[in-house]
Amino acid sequence: MTELVIPNDSNILGNVLGGRVMHWIDLSAAVAAHRHCNAICVTASIEGLSFLHPIKVGQLALLKARVVYVGRTSLMVKVVIHSEDMNTGDVQKTTEAHMTFVCLGKDGKPRVVPPLRLETEDEKTEYRKAEEIRKRRLEMKIQEMQ
Ligand SMILES: CC(C)(COP(=O)(O)OP(=O)(O)OC[C@H]1O[C@@H](n2cnc3c(N)ncnc32)[C@H](O)[C@@H]1OP(=O)(O)O)[C@@H](O)C(=O)NCCC(=O)NCCS
Repeated sequence: MTELVIPNDSNILGNVLGGRVMHWIDLSAAVAAHRHCNAICVTASIEGLSFLHPIKVGQLALLKARVVYVGRTSLMVKVVIHSEDMNTGDVQKTTEAHMTFVCLGKDGKPRVVPPLRLETEDEKTEYRKAEEIRKRRLEMKIQEMQ
């Protein structure tokens, strides 16, 4: 997904708002999840979001979303964002996040998701990393619910 940062997206420094970036992350990740499952997926959690560099008005935000892990009814999508300066061609990594979605059936209940084919070493590494993230998140959920 590509977004052109316009003044309405920015803070008073002319940098994109964190909340706007989160919205784009949510949308791009939801598309990846929906495409994988061919069904509606709702956001369950978002992990490890840090803003490494600002994206300025007039620059592009390039979002790449990829399913990196599937559980039984949930799946995790990794989103990486780069800024692109269209005048210089400079591209810089600005943000990375992992989001968990739950796939819902027509009855609104969690539904089993299709398997994920892991072909490359990179995909296998991402899968193991996602497994760790999921483990931590589910431990946190238990605490949050108390
Ligand atoms: C997400 C939601 C459907 C999960 O419902 P639930 O009753 O907890 O479902 P279950 O306990 O059956 O868990 C379903 C799956 O979600 C995972 N899950 C549930 N809550 C999670 C969380 N906070 N973070 C990560 N994974 C979560 C479970 O581990 C399980 O995964 P698995 O089937 O792959 O093992 C429910 O909490 C919900 O509707 N939340 C609101 C979603 C929403 O509105 N999002 C928009 C932004 S607010």
